[in-house]
Amino acid sequence: MISLPGFPRFRPRRLRSFKAIRDLVAETRLDPSRFILPIFVNDNIEKPVETKSLEGHFYYPPRSPELIEYISKAMDLKIRAFLIFGIPSSKDYHGSQAWHRDGVVQKALRYIRSELGSKPVLFTDLCLCGYTDHGHCGLPVNSRRGMVIDNDSTLEIYAKIAVSHAEAGADFVAPSGMMDGQVKVIREALDNSGFTDVGIMSYSAKYASVFYGPFRGVMDSAPRFGDRRSYQMDPRNAWEALREVIADVEEGADIVMVKPALAYLDVIRLVKDHLPQVPLAAYNVSGEYMMIRKAAELGILDGETAILEVLTAIARAGADMIITYHAVEAAELIRSGRIPF
Ligand code: PBG
Repeated sequence: MISLPGFPRFRPRRLRSFKAIRDLVAETRLDPSRFILPIFVNDNIEKPVETKSLEGHFYYPPRSPELIEYISKAMDLKIRAFLIFGIPSSKDYHGSQAWHRDGVVQKALRYIRSELGSKPVLFTDLCLCGYTDHGHCGLPVNSRRGMVIDNDSTLEIYAKIAVSHAEAGADFVAPSGMMDGQVKVIREALDNSGFTDVGIMSYSAKYASVFYGPFRGVMDSAPRFGDRRSYQMDPRNAWEALREVIADVEEGADIVMVKPALAYLDVIRLVKDHLPQVPLAAYNVSGEYMMIRKAAELGILDGETAILEVLTAIARAGADMIITYHAVEAAELIRSGRIPF
């Protein structure tokens, strides 16, 4: 073991005294090519409309020039990966619009591919909560404990959605429903349909979190009865997250995810330390985004600095890529050199 000297041989301030030296020794660097930008396509509108609960983010019609402009603008800022969410024109018990050939996400995928070719990396959120009239990520059935969300019948539906997203041009599907075995079933379905090149980014450790509030407003996807605690993870557990991640890797996930990010930095670090070989995404969720926006609006803190500090912390904790609603603004700050460190 080397012994590290103390003062006066060690003067840590020497490496902090001006920006160029701080940049030389910085352990973490933000890079927009590691951002994934969420996008909401909505089948009920003709023109882009700002969302109410996720300020600064818009709904786009699935086949609109504005959608292409938005993606192109992000790509000019070096953001090349997008996570697509759909708001369907109708909801039902099974969420059948989710795997419809002309569903909103499928239409958007085909349109983006026809306009931008293979340049953008297109991830699709694969879930039912935005498509079902009950707002759950799986199918509710009656049991001796009352209404429960049935695991295995939901998996069959996820398999259909995955194949329909792949057919429409998705590069990666991102199952977010937290059903057991979802990655296995989706991998098999994709392989059996000839989509061995389509990957899976699994929401492996997704917690039952209050920080999804603004997103559920955008998607109109809040559960109409009960909550999601019987399928999403308990915030008290970290080792369990590791087990979820390992299971997903064994089932065939190419990328794993911890979600949310900020209150779960320890979980990001735990996963990175134990499975450094596996690409890890962190989802900086809607409530985390809105907290900074609102605090900045109230003059409580400087929003730009807060965004970069938070994203840097998520990267430092061990995330290889960050899904964030701040992506465009952060990329603009990085480009302009207005970095507060
Ligand atoms: C759907 C899903 C959720 C988010 C992404 N996919 C939330 C939920 O469980 O209701 C949350 C995203 C965010 O808050 O930004 N299962």
